[in-house]
Amino acid sequence: MNIEQHPRYPLTFGPSPLQHLKRLTQHLGGAGIWAKREDVSSGLAYGGNKIRKLEYIVPDILASGADTLVSIGGYQSNHTRQVAAVAAHLGLKARLVQEKWVPWDDPTNDRVGNILLSRMMGADSRLDDAGFDIGIRDSWKEALAEVEDAGGTPYAIPAGASEHRLGGLGFANWAFEVAAQEKELGLTFDTIVVCTVTGSTHAGMIAGFAALEDLTGVRRRILGIDASATLAKTRDQVARIARNTTALIELGRDLRDDEIQVLEGWAGELYGLPVDSTMEAMALGAQLEAMITDPVYEGKSLAGLIYLVSSGDIPKDSTVLYAHLGGQPAINAYHSLWP
Ligand SMILES: Cc1ncc(COP(=O)(O)O)c(C=O)c1O
Repeated sequence: MNIEQHPRYPLTFGPSPLQHLKRLTQHLGGAGIWAKREDVSSGLAYGGNKIRKLEYIVPDILASGADTLVSIGGYQSNHTRQVAAVAAHLGLKARLVQEKWVPWDDPTNDRVGNILLSRMMGADSRLDDAGFDIGIRDSWKEALAEVEDAGGTPYAIPAGASEHRLGGLGFANWAFEVAAQEKELGLTFDTIVVCTVTGSTHAGMIAGFAALEDLTGVRRRILGIDASATLAKTRDQVARIARNTTALIELGRDLRDDEIQVLEGWAGELYGLPVDSTMEAMALGAQLEAMITDPVYEGKSLAGLIYLVSSGDIPKDSTVLYAHLGGQPAINAYHSLWP
């Protein structure tokens, strides 16, 4: 079964736009840097990367007869906001577990940005004191049981929709979308830079680009920039989901080790807290391109890209694609970074 045979429920406007980041390219003196903008590709509550993952999960939700989507994330989870959006769009309920993933004591952290949007969209969003972990949590299992006990029919969506068996398909399809856009533009991205935490965005890309490589012979580097600060868990999750997704799209071979690259160096000590390189990257993106990134995810992957280009690890003659995965609503809870 290839990617086209998996049912997809469209939640985006169409292919996400590609943008040449001319001033950032000039500032760094090459490589050529482009962004693919998942943050502006859907009308559902500011979009983001989970919308694409959910496009392949919605057919299963609808077939299951569920009336409530049950998911989990941090207080400022972009993922749970996108689950709330899809629930509203489909006329379903959403029950969200919001854990204290980040020791960020701003008094607005559990009130503005993503969590505010989820509440506006009618989600039942409840706080939980547990800290950061990308794995399966008891609080989420309890929320599923509560929905059932109340006579509802829950549908389980794990953190980041990553441990869901179909979670990697959205970004496997992204790879094919990139290939079609490359044809139109007459260029080839030899390097993709993507933020990775729960893993299925990066893993899906790995699977999709592996399938493309087998079709076209084009070999690229798909560089995941860890923003979890729990590197071993994220690496393991990326590798597992990538292999699961290659099986779903019937790649017909195992992935090589060089196809799974999760790089460390830009996450800082803790998930959710920016470090100097994050702040510098966010400022550069905003001031050179008016491209807004957040301190939890995209600021960290942009910092990775800037370093890799500046250090020559990504050579000057490269054409690089930065996957902008959304996440801007969270900046409201981080207002004190720019006093
Ligand atoms: C804005 C943003 N960027 C990157 C990521 C990382 O994606 P993934 O969890 O699929 O690794 C997420 C979600 O976790 C996100 O919301």
